[in-house]
Amino acid sequence: MKILLLGSGGREHALAWKMIQSPKLEKLYVAPGNAGTASIAENVNIAVTDFNTIADFIAEKGINLLVVGPEDPLVEGVRDFFIADARFQDLMILGPGKDGAILEGSKDFAKQFMVRHGIPTAGYMTVTPENIEKGQGYLTTLKAPYVLKADGLAAGKGVLIIDDLQEAQRELKEMLEGKFGTASSRVVIEEFLRGIEISVFAITDGKTYKILGSAKDYKRIGEGDMGLNTGGMGAISPVPFADEVFNKKVEERIVRPTVEGLKKDGIDFRGFLFFGLMNDGGEPSVIEYNVRMGDPETEVVIPRLKTDAIDLFVAAATGELANVEFELDNRYCATVMLVAGGYPGDYKKGDVITGFDQVENSIVFQAGTKEVDGEIVTNGGRVIAVSSFGEQMEEALTCSYVSVGKLCFKDMNYRKDIGQDLLNFKK
Ligand code: AMP
Ligand code: GLY
Repeated sequence: MKILLLGSGGREHALAWKMIQSPKLEKLYVAPGNAGTASIAENVNIAVTDFNTIADFIAEKGINLLVVGPEDPLVEGVRDFFIADARFQDLMILGPGKDGAILEGSKDFAKQFMVRHGIPTAGYMTVTPENIEKGQGYLTTLKAPYVLKADGLAAGKGVLIIDDLQEAQRELKEMLEGKFGTASSRVVIEEFLRGIEISVFAITDGKTYKILGSAKDYKRIGEGDMGLNTGGMGAISPVPFADEVFNKKVEERIVRPTVEGLKKDGIDFRGFLFFGLMNDGGEPSVIEYNVRMGDPETEVVIPRLKTDAIDLFVAAATGELANVEFELDNRYCATVMLVAGGYPGDYKKGDVITGFDQVENSIVFQAGTKEVDGEIVTNGGRVIAVSSFGEQMEEALTCSYVSVGKLCFKDMNYRKDIGQDLLNFKK
């Protein structure tokens, strides 16, 4: 099996790390990849949305399976592009088409989908410049805080949570006037949900699904969940408070109706589903859908997968998921993200990273790294995710923090409290 994986983050290093363990693999390419993927596969310098160049590469190398990491190529229609080209009739693709990726690409579409299929989610109204007065009025019917979401993709920055009504009304106007470009030409106003956030990951072939597990990520830069939002500073899987009863509710009320709903709507969805959920006193509801794996959640979910990744991905891409024997590792996996000083604001690149050979008992997934003259240097805000297993969550965390202590680059920063809020919950 010759595989091309699109993406360049810790998520892609984790997916590549898992795929190279398969005896089915003949050759793995990663476009564009990072220094971590270069150490276990072959990087190709092609941008993830440069479909024409990707197509030439796939044709030249005889790629059998295309695995799509990030959302941009999915929302831009990478699957549709290949399906429309007669040269690629035999290419297997893991990742939904445009009609499925819109679950992530449009918050309004996602809300309509959930309402249509009876999937629990916060009440909402979608506002356009034409009905801004209605939107302002809807805000007055809600209790603070107020949740405003740009409809389209806004690089993770399109959600505002505002305490003051007048400020929310002002922001609504600014968003509709283009605060987030065309992404906020429509705005979804939502009721604020209380509770604890948790994410659940599944893979589907459009007919059935396998649940890959739950994870919690730590989005804020500072300890105690303070400070600016980041792409994610660490993660734990499984989430200790997601007990059997809760997981059953998630599957029956959310995962299954989503896969069924896609089917009913005629959307042939083959890829990952990432459910961003709120757990309010044991009752799950959906905050958002993503149509890809999370980062850094992949760095704790994928290591727990015992099933051969290529068997699983091929089955999902070809509609054969029901025939896959699926198994997860029961242990906990924890990851701690090492970031560049200054991130998520301005930060430097090009600092040498040392200590890789000192790390024992953890898996080091590289994110923003590249190789320069035989050395690995920083090349992004989020630099390295250090993942470890443990029978107990504490054990997994301790192991990752010991390994973090071995790694070093100038102005390296990380959160020291990953998982601390979950220590009181037992599996
Ligand atoms: P999203 O980009 O939709 O994941 O939203 C970013 C973050 O905003 C989420 O991870 C939640 O912490 C928060 N959020 C979004 N929608 C709601 C909501 N309806 N109620 C409470 N918090 C929310
Ligand atoms: N860590 C959140 C995400 O990947 O969207």
